Amino acid sequence: MTGSKLRVAVTRKLPDATEREIAALFDARFNHSDTAMDAAALIGAVRDADVLVPTVTDRITADVIAAAGPQLKLIANFGVGFNHIDVAAAARRNIAVTNTPGVLTDATADIAMTLMLMVTRRALEGAKVIEAGRFSGWCPTWMMGVGLRGRNLGIVGMGRIGEAVARRSRGFGMTIHYNNRTRVTAAVERELDATYWPELDAMLPAMDVVSINCPYNTSTYHLFSAERLARLKPTAFLINTARGEIVDEAALAEALSSARLAGAGLDVFEHEPQVHPKLPGLPNAVLLPHLGSSTIEARTGMGRKVIANIRAFIAGEALPDRVG
Ligand code: DGY
Repeated sequence: MTGSKLRVAVTRKLPDATEREIAALFDARFNHSDTAMDAAALIGAVRDADVLVPTVTDRITADVIAAAGPQLKLIANFGVGFNHIDVAAAARRNIAVTNTPGVLTDATADIAMTLMLMVTRRALEGAKVIEAGRFSGWCPTWMMGVGLRGRNLGIVGMGRIGEAVARRSRGFGMTIHYNNRTRVTAAVERELDATYWPELDAMLPAMDVVSINCPYNTSTYHLFSAERLARLKPTAFLINTARGEIVDEAALAEALSSARLAGAGLDVFEHEPQVHPKLPGLPNAVLLPHLGSSTIEARTGMGRKVIANIRAFIAGEALPDRVG
């Protein structure tokens, strides 16, 4: 340690305000090149850090954790999803893990709505027409999409972000349905006029749009398998702003290209940053490069949460956002 300052290793460039505060408070090590760290670089970072601040682009595996020096006591993730961290391996080494819930809810729900509107109203296809200089004038039957009013929206994972998507979708006149391990409170169900489906397979065939908002873990890997995708109506749209691994991307590409599914809006991919080669170019697929939390408000809020968790750790207080 430098004096009493904690050594904090940050794996990626963070918003300026966050980096300034981290630099002022801690003995900070930043990744000035801002490239995703490979296993060797991560192992180098955890060898002498007291706190690691990783992001979704880092694989904090059991091997990385095993290489950590005994001083590493906290992994303060910059992001809400923590499937890239082996939390069980961290627990075995008595290393706490925190995340950044809440501050990116609005930004992520907004991206889900962006995708929903873009894919149902064929906005990307339309924009490409303009870009290619092929717009020859308004036409009564050209480029018709489908409206959202009166459509059934099925939310898979009714946590903070799922609820925020539901609230927004109500404003567009959609009817809310949801599948979740547990039922939300009666007050939330009433507010959203939401119907609970304990069985995902029962809900899917009745939905016009499905929004994936559940966490990724071993039980949600390929939750949307080929069989499950086949339960959706051919007129349905699938939106994924959660994690790519929840959907079998090859099966989805197949369903979209054979018109067994009307469209998909994806912000996340199974093998990021790779995208399944059959997805780009499909007219009924809108693909965004993991923009869910990419607003200045959300990203600086995430930075504030990281710092609050580290400060609580230093003060010996309960960590506000502990997940492991
Ligand atoms: C999150 O916070 O989980 C976002 O996907 C970025 O990590």
